[in-house]
Amino acid sequence: MVLSEEDKSNIRTTWSKISGDAAEYGAEALERMFLAYPTTKTYFPHFDVSHGSAQVKAHGKKVADALTNAVGHLDDLPGALSDLSDLHAHSLRVDPVNFKLLSHSLQVTLANHHPTEFTPEVHASMDKFLASVSTVLTSKYR
Ligand code: HEM
Repeated sequence: MVLSEEDKSNIRTTWSKISGDAAEYGAEALERMFLAYPTTKTYFPHFDVSHGSAQVKAHGKKVADALTNAVGHLDDLPGALSDLSDLHAHSLRVDPVNFKLLSHSLQVTLANHHPTEFTPEVHASMDKFLASVSTVLTSKYR
């Protein structure tokens, strides 16, 4: 997946607008994922996934911070996400199909909170960005 200069610009601009709320959006995306795609909960048997759970909120912030770091390193996602890639593939063994489910949940969350900013062009760039992040995080699976 190659991000064009326009994609990078769309991603940086969108992220700069939402970064103050990114932790909250991360938690909402996780909540949507767990509800819409219940099999994803099997990776979190130790989590309280009920609405407003402190664990989901804390994890939403971690996911958001990782994405903020990725937005800061769009030209070197494999380097920026190397440790997380080891974690998800080697330790957690998250099946790659699940990344589309979280990516979709993140996009629905962003579109819901920012309907004006989330134009079709931004949607396309954000989809490419999340697919690129997912590729890195699943690249060491198996
Ligand atoms: C955009 C994609 C994703 C990002 C950016 C991401 C990010 C993170 C981060 C930052 C952590 C914490 C690492 C640490 O504590 O050092 C984490 C942990 C974890 N992730 Fe992901 N993740 C993604 C996708 C997924 C998916 C799709 C699943 C499974 C459905 C998943 C399951 C887990 C689990 C089970 C943990 C450990 C939770 C715990 O015990 O605290 N991740 N992830």
